[in-house]
Amino acid sequence: MDKDKCTGCGVCAEACPIRYEVQLPPEEEAKARSAYAQATDEAVVAEIIDLYRDEPGNLLPILLDINSHFRWLPRPALEHLSQELQTPLSEILRVASFYNAFSLVPRGQHIINVCLGTGCFVKGSPRILAELERKLGVKHGETTEDMLFTLEVVRCIGCCALAPAMRVGDDTFGRLTPGQVGKIIDSYTKTANL
Ligand code: FES
Repeated sequence: MDKDKCTGCGVCAEACPIRYEVQLPPEEEAKARSAYAQATDEAVVAEIIDLYRDEPGNLLPILLDINSHFRWLPRPALEHLSQELQTPLSEILRVASFYNAFSLVPRGQHIINVCLGTGCFVKGSPRILAELERKLGVKHGETTEDMLFTLEVVRCIGCCALAPAMRVGDDTFGRLTPGQVGKIIDSYTKTANL
């Protein structure tokens, strides 16, 4: 898939020959379910569904809004959606697991994207990543125990002139050195919404 050309129309997901249902390991499943506060979260999901209820092709926008609200797609929310849209859960999971924009496991309050694109790589972004992994105590693709940070790697965030670069949520940091990483992370820890 060419991410730059993706319009989110869903046609490629329809045509994808791979059919499977995503199943988390039992302990991950229990953790994911407990992160979903039943009554209030259900009300949020119901509101999102109502926004798009009568629109054709509403699955993707609903999933995007749910993912944006929770920062991931809780399984109970998808079960709720399955009932409301009268769409099999396996179909919803197939779409949800097809796009990188969606996560089926809880993600941290701040998503850190470290660029490992060529421009950043040659300017030392692997050392930035190593320092982040050391500081946060997680590997890329993982979330810190306190659910504050999820560390991810990406290929180019569109500011190659600032290489090496990373993004924390909507904030971009460029011309980074490993020595700056700790202070940046601390600034988010101090203002954390715990
Ligand atoms: S390669 Fe890192 S921002 Fe483009």
